[in-house]
Amino acid sequence: MIVSPERIPVAGPSITDREPELAAEAARTAWYGNHYAYNARFEQMLTDYVGVAHAVSLPHCTSGLHLALAALGVGPGDEVIVPNVTWIASVAPIVYVGAEPVLVDIRADTWCIDPDAVEAAIGPKTKAIIGVDLYGSMCDWDQLQAVADRHGLHLIEDSAEALGSSLNGRKAGAFGRVSAFSFHGSKTVATGEGGMLATNDTGLFDRVLFLRDHGRAPGDRFFQNSEIAFKYRMSAVQAALGVAQMERIDELIAHKRAIFRWYQQRLSGLQGVALNAEPNGVVNSYWMVTIVPDASFGLDKFQIMEGLNKRNIDSRPFFSRLSDLQAFDDRPVSKRFVRPDERGAAIARGGVNLPSGYNMDEAKVDIVAAAVKEIFGARA
Ligand SMILES: Cc1ncc(COP(=O)(O)O)c(C=O)c1O
Repeated sequence: MIVSPERIPVAGPSITDREPELAAEAARTAWYGNHYAYNARFEQMLTDYVGVAHAVSLPHCTSGLHLALAALGVGPGDEVIVPNVTWIASVAPIVYVGAEPVLVDIRADTWCIDPDAVEAAIGPKTKAIIGVDLYGSMCDWDQLQAVADRHGLHLIEDSAEALGSSLNGRKAGAFGRVSAFSFHGSKTVATGEGGMLATNDTGLFDRVLFLRDHGRAPGDRFFQNSEIAFKYRMSAVQAALGVAQMERIDELIAHKRAIFRWYQQRLSGLQGVALNAEPNGVVNSYWMVTIVPDASFGLDKFQIMEGLNKRNIDSRPFFSRLSDLQAFDDRPVSKRFVRPDERGAAIARGGVNLPSGYNMDEAKVDIVAAAVKEIFGARA
């Protein structure tokens, strides 16, 4: 049995001397009139890169989705259609604003929300759709936009995992009326914790700036709050880390794509095991290299993870179907379109994220790929 001589972690950032240099500079200088300078730089770099008009730095992506829904006026009595297979952070903010998530199936190839399933779930209470660019894949944004337009719905893009991906030349985060990114330490651009909301809609953006600062106008110096709202701000030191990471964005995305290519070269002969999709017109930034085996292998994700763990390799399970989580036990309304045999069920049962951190090199991918082949070969 192949055993890695050192533990291979599943995720982690790329930190050079530049990140602590800028973080230290921010800790020294981002005070008084300069307190927002690094946040403003980080926001400008993201808007330039993604190709949107406005962005605001936040404590995390979850707050971005929360602000998006609140600014769009989604609230009690409303429903928001979301993919059944995603991280719970895509969906929890719907409950924060008092609305109801409605879970629908994902596509077999991209693992993103199925626009046909979205359309079938639209009812009189539907207010919005959240598409999630899962693991760097791109949603079918043209179709989702068409559905949203036909029914007068807001389209929100959860691009937490897809910074650097694009569809027909347009970057992830530029498709929803409003989108949100994550800079959690495991993400493509990392600030430890952190997030950003992006939009082209100036009126909506103004509302977001108001809501994220306890319901007062930006620049208010007199503590004149006109609504009870939220406090969602990113610290200057985190923003400085973000600036340093954005300076290196092309190199970071190239490294992610190289990691995927190394895996693809080694695993392409493994029949019945799918990797992340990159359909025509898409550039996938491959946040997490992911394997999804056929059910015929008879292995679920936890068994595969245990096989990797025994070989000193860390991994992560594909997100579970939200409808299978205890957190949704008391939400029958959310689950009314869920079927036991939907596509997401098999994907979520068998999928595993392989080590995809920036410390991966070809030698480490050699070990992980050999371990994967051993695990499947033994049962094939
Ligand atoms: C798809 C998706 N949405 C939202 C989030 C939330 O991001 P954050 O942890 O920055 O709030 C994550 C992060 O893990 C995610 O993967």
